[in-house]
Amino acid sequence: RAEPLVLGIETSCDETGIGIVRGHHLLANTIASSMDEHARYGGVVPEVAARAHLEALEPTLTAALAEAGIALADLDAVAVTSGPGLSGALMVGVGAAKALAVSLGKPLYAVNHLVGHVGADVLDSEDGTIEYPTIALLVSGGHTSLLLVRDLVSDVELLGETIDDAAGEAFDKVARILGLPYPGGPQIDRAAVGGDPRAIRFPRGLSLPKDMERHRYDFSFSGLKTAVARWVEAKQDAGEPVPVADVAASFREAVVDVLVSKAVKACTELGVPRLLLGGGVIANARLREVAAERTASAGIELRIPPLQLCTDNGAMIAALAAQLIAAGHEPSSLDFGADSTLPV
Ligand code: KG4
Repeated sequence: RAEPLVLGIETSCDETGIGIVRGHHLLANTIASSMDEHARYGGVVPEVAARAHLEALEPTLTAALAEAGIALADLDAVAVTSGPGLSGALMVGVGAAKALAVSLGKPLYAVNHLVGHVGADVLDSEDGTIEYPTIALLVSGGHTSLLLVRDLVSDVELLGETIDDAAGEAFDKVARILGLPYPGGPQIDRAAVGGDPRAIRFPRGLSLPKDMERHRYDFSFSGLKTAVARWVEAKQDAGEPVPVADVAASFREAVVDVLVSKAVKACTELGVPRLLLGGGVIANARLREVAAERTASAGIELRIPPLQLCTDNGAMIAALAAQLIAAGHEPSSLDFGADSTLPV
């Protein structure tokens, strides 16, 4: 029996993603982003994102079908992100997915965005696919989550997440403090070139009392952002120039240190010798470098999918649904909604 041909729709944040896969094979991964529209606000504006999805969905879908060389009628199933994410943005994708599934008479699969990031790993990977269990570190503008994946389609546990800002959000906010444009991640990465990561010792955050063990894998970035703001203000108040490269490099080092330390700690403490990275912040040059160094010295296998599968996309949603179908999962009933805080 041929592997299922699945369409995936992703609209949880500012990317309208349409992906088409046949089992593990990527046929199309088309993305429209409303990022430019959010730039002047310094962050994603939910209402703007939702409206942009409404406009982008049809052209993105048409482009994906052309890229895959298929017609809608060829599809075996439709999949959509039902959460977590921005409610209004999610609703656009969920509504479109239901309409498509009903009109085509095809099964519909509602999937979790975070688990989708893990599911992307199987797509056309030259060096096979990750084995389970694995630890997954997902870092983007909206999420900073550490998952223990024992089985992709049946056993995913949230070990920890950010209790305030997401890592990408911290990059965006610190860029703003330094007068750099949105999105801040790539700007900080660039500004940090030539800076000294040891110039300023910014806090690594979240020192917890002993009875807070259940938060041991959680993250916090808002204190770090405030520390950078205070440091920059003090320089400005003293009438001294702000050493942007040093601040960017030192801030980036603090974020990367915390992210990689906790992920590696989870791997060693839980006896899981595999780490998968996902999310837009994975583009960070220093994060990839430090993750490679520390996993190598701890004997942990590190996997990083290609960047276009790390940032938000529809292919990962289709890929996860294809794996659900292969595992014999029933489709979703049509009465599900958009759930901004959908648990894994
Ligand atoms: O996964 P993604 O495209 O989706 C959203 O969450 O919207 O991630 C975007 C986030 C932004 O916060 C951006 O600043 C951050 O990823 N980012 C980076 C880098 N490139 C993008 N953060 C750090 N370093 C980078 N090179």
